[in-house]
Amino acid sequence: MSESWASTLTGKNIILGISGSIAAFKAAILARELERCGACVRVILTSSAEKFIGRATFEGLGFEVYQDLWSGPHELHVSLAQWADLIVVAPSTADLIARLANGHCNELLSATILCAEVPIWIAPAMHPSMWKAEATQENIEKLNRRGIKLIGPAHGEVASGDEGLGRLVEPSQIIEHLVENTHAGSELLGRHIIVTAGPTREALDPVRALTNLSSGKMGYAIAAAASAAGARVTLISGPVALAPPLGVQRITIESARELQEKLEEVLGAERDKADLLVMAAAVADYRPSQVSGAKLKKGEKPPEIHLEANPDIIANIGKERQGQQPLLVAFALETSTGDELIQAARKKLINKRVDYVVANNSADSLGRSDATVCLVSPSDCIHYPEMKKAALASQLVSRWAKDISERLPSSHD
Ligand SMILES: Cc1cc2nc3c(=O)[nH]c(=O)nc-3n(C[C@H](O)[C@H](O)[C@H](O)COP(=O)(O)O)c2cc1C
Repeated sequence: MSESWASTLTGKNIILGISGSIAAFKAAILARELERCGACVRVILTSSAEKFIGRATFEGLGFEVYQDLWSGPHELHVSLAQWADLIVVAPSTADLIARLANGHCNELLSATILCAEVPIWIAPAMHPSMWKAEATQENIEKLNRRGIKLIGPAHGEVASGDEGLGRLVEPSQIIEHLVENTHAGSELLGRHIIVTAGPTREALDPVRALTNLSSGKMGYAIAAAASAAGARVTLISGPVALAPPLGVQRITIESARELQEKLEEVLGAERDKADLLVMAAAVADYRPSQVSGAKLKKGEKPPEIHLEANPDIIANIGKERQGQQPLLVAFALETSTGDELIQAARKKLINKRVDYVVANNSADSLGRSDATVCLVSPSDCIHYPEMKKAALASQLVSRWAKDISERLPSSHD
């Protein structure tokens, strides 16, 4: 499956509210598409919505689902409102519109919306007669005045077979609308960020190779988050099944030595063509000493494979760096956990002379859409709890952006 990220939604926390319209089934597609854009999505279902689509659908797709105003240990509507960067309700019923217009908050979705201080979008879906009813139109006017914005409704055939204005706007158009109307950040405006991602592939013969299980998801999420923060991003990627994030220049490589060659080109001999280098790629430490020009045949005995060391790319860059440019970030993927994992990351930080090491345990992150990491620097170690890689990437990028603005005052090209 290929994934792509639309940059302005990357890393955004989005609440998808769903109310009791027959169009509620389309919300599952919308939730999935929002996630593909790199957003972290939580779903709130009204009790009527659940008559049209079950929470199992969303939970099965991996989303957190909330329904009950009374279920949290604390005030759930308050914590959800504070978590969100944006709320979209699709479909929105006439009744929910009436509740919102009048400040009702007797169930979780309307209570969360009343509490939220973030952009709120509603995509109505109802019979055309309900839409054009004076009461609905007055309620819509009230919402407009309060800055709650509409997506649709669309004109066309509705569930009853009648035609008119009242159809839910298609999920793909809702996404387009949100992408166009959500502002990208500007923390990294004018900066150049290089990210490496994915595995390398070291050939044994024309049809076989040594490789690893890196999916590239973390590096791609970082590239997307940096692009969303306004940076010019070059992504050097090993073989993965991911589409390049919007606005990111991707260069594809196979082997470690190819990665080194492309990185040298992009970074420049003076190492001054980038503000930040994030080495998220899982680069092979060794490669076969000999690559057969023809397919190796099955013999009586298994062949012996001799390996030789690949260049330690990040250590070489760390050694050659003059001053603080570019900011250097390495990754440490280990099978250890806890203190042992942090120790390994700290050792890497010193040996490779980098500014940060992102430490992660393979079971917690390899190939997954979520990750749990520690960001180790010479002065501290920040623990990031389990979260979607898109959200994590956005937090890591924010942290590095702050460092860049303190250490590297001016930008360049
Ligand atoms: C079969 C069926 C379909 C419905 N479709 C819609 C609809 O598309 N839009 C709407 O505004 N209300 C629709 N309703 C009415 C709402 O479900 C009803 O007003 C409900 O109280 C809304 O609750 P909620 O806003 O909390 O989700 C429908 C009701 C039924 C029984």
